Amino acid sequence: MPSYVVVGSQWGDEGKGKIVDVLGEKADMVVRFQGGNNAGHTVVVNGKKTVLHLLPSGALHPNAKCIIGPGVVIDPFVFLQEIDALESQGFDSSHILISDCAHLIMPYHIKLDMLQEERLANNKIGTTKRGIGPCYADKYTRIGLRVGDLIDFETFKKRLASTLAIKNEQITKLYREEPFDYDKLVEQFKEIREKLYDRIIDSVTVVNEALDSNQHVLFEGAQAAMLDINYGTYPYVTSSSPTSAGVCEGAGVSPHKLDKIIGVVKAYSTRVGEGPFITELNDENGAKLRKIGNEYGATTGRPRRCGWLDLCVVKRAAVINGLTDLVITKIDVLDSFEKIPVCIAYEINGKRTTAIPSSLEEYAKAKPIYEMMDGWCEDITSIRCYDDLPENCKKFLAKIEEFTKTKISLVSVGPDRENNIVIHEI
Ligand code: GDP
Ligand code: IMO
Ligand code: MG
Repeated sequence: MPSYVVVGSQWGDEGKGKIVDVLGEKADMVVRFQGGNNAGHTVVVNGKKTVLHLLPSGALHPNAKCIIGPGVVIDPFVFLQEIDALESQGFDSSHILISDCAHLIMPYHIKLDMLQEERLANNKIGTTKRGIGPCYADKYTRIGLRVGDLIDFETFKKRLASTLAIKNEQITKLYREEPFDYDKLVEQFKEIREKLYDRIIDSVTVVNEALDSNQHVLFEGAQAAMLDINYGTYPYVTSSSPTSAGVCEGAGVSPHKLDKIIGVVKAYSTRVGEGPFITELNDENGAKLRKIGNEYGATTGRPRRCGWLDLCVVKRAAVINGLTDLVITKIDVLDSFEKIPVCIAYEINGKRTTAIPSSLEEYAKAKPIYEMMDGWCEDITSIRCYDDLPENCKKFLAKIEEFTKTKISLVSVGPDRENNIVIHEI
């Protein structure tokens, strides 16, 4: 029952898409369990780049069944666009299925995401404006619409009428904007129903049967530990649980059935949107990381904030997720740096700590304590064997292992599917 979970260990964009694609080679099934099209997962095969937002990054492997699980929020318009894009590139899409329990991101969720951000002004979260927060909010206040509701369209229409009345009141009375038209939504979703119908499944049964029959199942996390609704830098977080626990909740799988929990760690840090970022660099080194690492959002195109590796953050991800393996990505981006500072603790109010305080006011006071590592100053992108790595690069990797008490199993030295150094077989 080999089941692998891939999660982000920082603030997202660690290269999870690439790693899921690499591990997807052996997978019978790839399952997304949380988030929605706020994700932007890049897969590069023979130099050709594909960015997936909602479809699992196993989509390019026709033999892996791809499932969008119950914990995901689905914008059906985006889903269908991605399917079309995949098919127009010559890929088959019949292996891509969606859970009947997943919630639908409705056009009014996107509108409300934008309106709330505008209203928050200087306190805005910096969301991707894809309707994620408002959709999860409706789920938890129990007025959401699920994919399975589309099956019996009369039921869908009734639920929509009831929810839309509330949403339109918010939109017109609180924000003084135009209401959404019920009949138009009904027409749009009638068409969507036709297009989604054959892909709607009871994914909990399908995924558990696959695990019980020893199939190789890969769970693909979106976002990352520091964006977790419970453990991230709240309120500057997303609205789901992008951790290994999120797999149990969002895919309907017991914790007993999770074998390996793989944390993807970028060799430095980036963050998109607002919120504290202790090792952020607003200098030429930050600009250099952004330029070499091409750090621009795969979903919104926003320049990503860049900084040095923060091991306190990675350690926390290791603990919360119970990471069994680390994958280090984008280490090649550090090739030309003579000195590479790595944050190993914070100083907060004169005290040294490695803990991340829940109070953002406290956390904002943290000053990074760096250990200065020597760079390797050579191009490592063509290296495929650990022994061939420069000594200083090995020392950098060893520091991460020592601090997080977690073994590094794979090192990624370039965006392509082939640019990897395997240390331990995953
Ligand atoms: P995700 O959201 O975690 O899947 O990551 P993104 O796709 O948003 O961002 C990662 C970016 O880094 C993408 O452009 C990848 O093609 C690229 N990438 C992934 N791994 C490596 C690597 O090892 N080296 C370099 N230079 N780029 C990488
Ligand atoms: P992947 O899967 C990086 C960030 C947004 C914002 C916050 C809340 O590609 O790593 P939301 O739209 O979710 O309500 O926004 O979370 N965010 C991400 N940052 N990578 C992502 O996904 C992200 N998904 C959301 O920028 O700060
Ligand atoms: Mg991304």
